[in-house]
Amino acid sequence: MTLTVGVDIGGTKIAAGVVAEGGEVLARARTRSPATDPPEIVRTIGELVRGLVADLPPGSEVEAVGASAAGFVDKQRASLVFAPNLAWRDEPLKAHLERELQLPVVVENDANAAAWGEFRFGAGEDVDNLLMLTIGTGVGGGIVLDGELVRGGFGMGGEVGHITLVPDGVLCGCGNLGCLESYGSGSALVRHTREQARQDPGARHLLDQVDGVAEQLTGPMVTTGALAGDPFSIAMLAWLGDWIGRGVASLTAVLDPAVVVIGGGVGEAGDLLLDPVRDSFAEHVTGAGHRPLLEVRGARLGNAGGLVGVADLARRR
Ligand code: BGC
Ligand code: NA
Ligand code: ZN
Repeated sequence: MTLTVGVDIGGTKIAAGVVAEGGEVLARARTRSPATDPPEIVRTIGELVRGLVADLPPGSEVEAVGASAAGFVDKQRASLVFAPNLAWRDEPLKAHLERELQLPVVVENDANAAAWGEFRFGAGEDVDNLLMLTIGTGVGGGIVLDGELVRGGFGMGGEVGHITLVPDGVLCGCGNLGCLESYGSGSALVRHTREQARQDPGARHLLDQVDGVAEQLTGPMVTTGALAGDPFSIAMLAWLGDWIGRGVASLTAVLDPAVVVIGGGVGEAGDLLLDPVRDSFAEHVTGAGHRPLLEVRGARLGNAGGLVGVADLARRR
């Protein structure tokens, strides 16, 4: 049995997993990410992967490694050229990881990896056309059309977090104003929740947890609050879902996906986020009433989607 390893390089942690041909994760490990220091990240990944490989049963062989990160990857799938929310610029990750690991390495955008994972083994298994959005610090996008991952002319397609939703709107990490990411991300949810909490008496329940200091409210607090039935938290997720739905409606005019998969940390709110996305999408999509409506689904692979996807991409390199 040939195996591949998927590595998910996040801003705060690095996760790795040994993945079999059918997408099963046979072993997993994770560690804190030394996020600001690329050489240190490469060494950390080296340790993580060597540890996983050493524990494999005799006779199993790892043939390649896929590594995903939150930024623009070039067409050769070798360098992380730009990351709106990380300090990385023109980082030749493939070359450095191949030297460290002595294995072939494929580098991929994090949301592309998650989209591919969901398409092959998760929420999009039954369709050929899907759009995945990962809702976290940023808004990641992954597009599969007719069974192929869309990378575009220079490898940087599918960056749907940076379509303009609000002309001259809120500043995005990419430097532009009014991106989908400025309204539809976990960071936007936190910004909006803090703003609202300063003026809405309904925020009492949430504010009690942070001694009334709105600046200390976090995304997971909103998700937990909403799941516990707190109307203010539910309204915050509905605000977020409304923006995501508007984004999906615009993207649908171009891509016409059969399924939209929503993942990332905020995705854990389930229908409390997905229902507002569905409503907003139905309200804003062009041609409503005259076209089949796509399905909005939650990610099925959870936080393993990225590493499963990128491991599969490494296998197909
Ligand atoms: C980046 C994408 C990334 C996404 C999610 C965005 O800001 O531009 O490359 O996929 O965040 O991490
Ligand atoms: Na992408
Ligand atoms: Zn942007």
